[in-house]
Amino acid sequence: MAVEIEIPDDIIRRWEERTDPVVKYPAPVLRQVARPVDHPSPFIRDLVERMKAAMVEASGVGLAAPQMGAPVRLFIYRLPEDNQPWRVILNPRIISAKGEQVGPEGCLSLPYLQGDVKRANEVIVKGLDIMGRPFKRRASEFEARVIQHELDHLDGVLFIDRADPATVHWLSDEEEPDEMLEAVAAR
Ligand code: NI
Repeated sequence: MAVEIEIPDDIIRRWEERTDPVVKYPAPVLRQVARPVDHPSPFIRDLVERMKAAMVEASGVGLAAPQMGAPVRLFIYRLPEDNQPWRVILNPRIISAKGEQVGPEGCLSLPYLQGDVKRANEVIVKGLDIMGRPFKRRASEFEARVIQHELDHLDGVLFIDRADPATVHWLSDEEEPDEMLEAVAAR
């Protein structure tokens, strides 16, 4: 179910201070079902490069193409630990999901909002890499949460739709964490 929230004036002002190009709620593109990628065309490869730059600028962990205004099925992520590679998944599908975890999530399209979301603890995701080669990846815990959050974006689903309403709250200036946005990071 698509949950709607009201954005307080002081939060809108803080959003306006952000320099990153990530599309903010309630832009309609965030509620669209994205279309599959045919092949990694120059447009797609350029989009991925722009997504990486936007994610770094916004201090995010992951980013889905609709958040750049492009309703196509791809997302990227890079875990916050040192020396983690960029991961790019075109046409992702979760083919197996196991267990359960509950933890805080945020989103670069809803900066400074946070809430607890229940997710599968372990997933196997299938898709294409940036060269168009099929691959499969098993992920658990934080990485599994990021994958589920980003995949939701491709179906027009936001974390507020899944979050426990009692836990959803705006972060104050002081609480604002560096890499909390766009799914997560329990700290
Ligand atoms: Ni998000």
